[in-house]
Amino acid sequence: MHILSPVTPGQVSFLLGLFPVIIAWIYSEILEFRKNSLTSKAHSDIGLVEVRTDVVKDEETTVLLEGGALQPASPTPKARSFTASTSIIRFFFLDEHFLHENRLTLRAMSEFGLLLAYYYLCDRTDFFGSSKKSYNRDLFIFLYFLLIIVSAITSFTIHHDKSPFSGKSILYLNRHQTEEWKGWMQVLFLMYHYFAASEIYNSIRLFIAAYVWMTGFGNFSYYYIRKDFSMARFAQMMWRLNFLVLFCCVVLNNSYMLYYICPMHTLFTLMVYGALGILNKYNEFGSVIAAKIGACFLVVILVWEIPGVFEWVWSPFTFMLGYTDPDPSKSHFTRLHEWHFRSGLDRYIWIIGMIYAYYHPTVSFSFYIFEQAKTNLTFTSILSVE
Ligand SMILES: *[C@@H]1O[C@H](CO)[C@@H](O)[C@H](O)[C@H]1NC(C)=O
Repeated sequence: MHILSPVTPGQVSFLLGLFPVIIAWIYSEILEFRKNSLTSKAHSDIGLVEVRTDVVKDEETTVLLEGGALQPASPTPKARSFTASTSIIRFFFLDEHFLHENRLTLRAMSEFGLLLAYYYLCDRTDFFGSSKKSYNRDLFIFLYFLLIIVSAITSFTIHHDKSPFSGKSILYLNRHQTEEWKGWMQVLFLMYHYFAASEIYNSIRLFIAAYVWMTGFGNFSYYYIRKDFSMARFAQMMWRLNFLVLFCCVVLNNSYMLYYICPMHTLFTLMVYGALGILNKYNEFGSVIAAKIGACFLVVILVWEIPGVFEWVWSPFTFMLGYTDPDPSKSHFTRLHEWHFRSGLDRYIWIIGMIYAYYHPTVSFSFYIFEQAKTNLTFTSILSVE
């Protein structure tokens, strides 16, 4: 097996970090196993452990659903860093209680690390052979429809999302619908790249625009209605948007810009956060929202349409967002060219999403009224026929 490119310090540190995590995880599984065999013998001891794992699971789901303030926040930053450092000490000394408590986290970390190691094996060594991408429309459509059928059979759930304003069901574009929509598009993005399905490029561009529209729509709704601008949730979202990319960049030694979709969504999410977060006490006033939306358009026009401004604004971040195309025919482009191009493609649609989000509660409520009227109507028409 040959390593195809020079090993970087990041890759070495990743490997060095992975081993202790895996060892600690295996040890925690052994502890769990021992404890279980003990309790099944003793019977009396109703698992404290079980209860704990439940708590962990719950927290995980809340994080996934972004339910706002989550953890029973620890009192002060100082206390928090104190517990963080003791955690690390307890981790390195293989403190049994600690390992046992964090078994599921350790398991997730090990799985994640092993997956990344697998990426490295595939992409940076000649362990597996390489091949060319090939696209076949029939296969593409077949696979997509297969997935639709399988998910229709296995995962149909009816959700009732209630509006926090009126308490009525949100009939269209509720969170479950937009997440579902995003998911189907993500599958298409993946398949598009996997097969190099260049004939659907135009549709893919539309889907990406739809996705960015939802970044504006979803985040506006969230911040406008929940008014949760807390650092904790914000940091969580930034982490969720970027942690996989961060590790991919380190382990595969790639530029951030190769995963341009992540910096792009991060940017637009930041813009929505900024738009609503600045002077957020006045968000109640329609005129303030209108002014904020106008300001968003202005910022985009200023940065993207006026020559030179983009380079000026982003040049401090070139270390992160810069990209040099290996293709010699593109060598005359500046390092920020790729970022300019990628972030510019969908630069207005998130604002449109915000406008839709602003009117969404009203429109959603009228949908509800129509729906109500429709049932009444059929009811009376049935009565009048009889
Ligand atoms: C905000 O936008 C990001 C990026 O698209 C998305 O991952 C996240 O779910 C959005 N948040 C909400 C509450 O819709």
